[in-house]
Amino acid sequence: MAQAVDSDKGLKRTLGAGNLIALGVGAIIGAGLFVRTAAAAGEAAGPAVVLSFVVAAIGCAFAGLCYAEFASMIPIAGSAYTYAYATMGEFVAWIIGWALVLEYALASATVAIAWSEYLNNLLGGSIPYEWCHSPFETSVNGVSGIMNLPALLILLILTLILIKGTQESATVNAVIVFVKVAIVLLFIGLGWSFINPSNYTPFFIPEGTPGHEGWNEWGWGGVFGGAAIVFFAFIGFDAVSTAAQEAKNPKRDMPIGILGSLLVCTILYVLFSYVLTGMANWEEFKTAGKEASVAYAINTYMEGYGWLATLISVAILAGFSSVILVMLMGQSRVFYSMSNDGLVPKVFSELHPKFRTPYKSNMILFIFVGLFAAFVPGNVAGDLTSFGTLFAFVLVCAGIWVMRVKNPELVRPFTTPLVPLVPILGMLVCGGLIASLDQNTLLIAFGWMAFGLVLYFGYGKSHSYLRKGK
Ligand code: ALA
Repeated sequence: MAQAVDSDKGLKRTLGAGNLIALGVGAIIGAGLFVRTAAAAGEAAGPAVVLSFVVAAIGCAFAGLCYAEFASMIPIAGSAYTYAYATMGEFVAWIIGWALVLEYALASATVAIAWSEYLNNLLGGSIPYEWCHSPFETSVNGVSGIMNLPALLILLILTLILIKGTQESATVNAVIVFVKVAIVLLFIGLGWSFINPSNYTPFFIPEGTPGHEGWNEWGWGGVFGGAAIVFFAFIGFDAVSTAAQEAKNPKRDMPIGILGSLLVCTILYVLFSYVLTGMANWEEFKTAGKEASVAYAINTYMEGYGWLATLISVAILAGFSSVILVMLMGQSRVFYSMSNDGLVPKVFSELHPKFRTPYKSNMILFIFVGLFAAFVPGNVAGDLTSFGTLFAFVLVCAGIWVMRVKNPELVRPFTTPLVPLVPILGMLVCGGLIASLDQNTLLIAFGWMAFGLVLYFGYGKSHSYLRKGK
């Protein structure tokens, strides 16, 4: 709280509800929409992916209301890790921090892989398959991937920019938001007349479809499976909560900012996925349209609109870069805080003498994220990201309820409505989405969390400043 008071003096309260919504939309629209939509349609939901977006948005809305209370209670720039550390203690904070690694680090990897797909598409597929795919992927012609070089390259460039230090200016953010929303609207508006209604029947993937044996791969179950996949597209709205201390009127504007950006994105996503699955048949997203799906759909079904595919691809490359930048920065901030609390080694909070950025942390992260981007398929990284985020959301929802019972007297500029109903619904929907992820993802994710516990008891606990009384 002392830090909050301190920083309150430093930062100007300049953001109104409109700015907060723009901030959210800027951080949200990315690979989730332009890559994962097709994956969700092809793997789980079919054209009913439009409903998957609604389900995922509902989970986000409940969690978002809980985020807003934490953000206003502890208004220092930070994320769920900071909220948990201040309110629920070190152990829960560690778990959240560890889950957030999956969110931020793997989201960077996922978007970098998506960036590589669109770059290759823009270059007319001239990058050899083996050098833009992981060893776990094979092309339709039987070529097997070796490593994803473009994904590694964009991560390297953005890491260097981060080390040098960047203040993403309000103007740059505004331009990126404008461009992203414009291409989404352009695709919806121009693509609408190319919809072939027969692509919507059947609307749900029918029972017994080969390759769709799991409960979350057909029918309504598939809508939930799809929701867990496209959930990725909403990640980033929590960025609004980190701006709590710069909001003019946090009590009123935070919920408007969080829920407003969610609403705007949900409407855009539903319309976008409706057009995409109307233009191309969902089954194509398993084969030819699996990569750079939007460019694929335009090139295949919108004759004479090649310029649109090129324009959208260029805009996507720029838009993805900003998402990666925000995610990499978010990750280094979480490690920075954890390191300041003694939970991870000091190297994560050592600042560059000149640039004053956590450069060592950025370099280590580049290696970690780069390994995933180069050697792991995008859908594996994407699903793990969804897991990490959903897991953190469940704990944030629980935390709001716990805090109301344990510390009812704390000042809360914004209060989550209908506690405990909203946190409980948030836990149920987000928990349900976790359960809808595929088995392999869950296995790897729980392995990751177990590894985190080993590290906590083997390192974090004994090095923690809290325990050393610092
Ligand atoms: N929501 C962000 C994206 O879709 C992470 O790229």
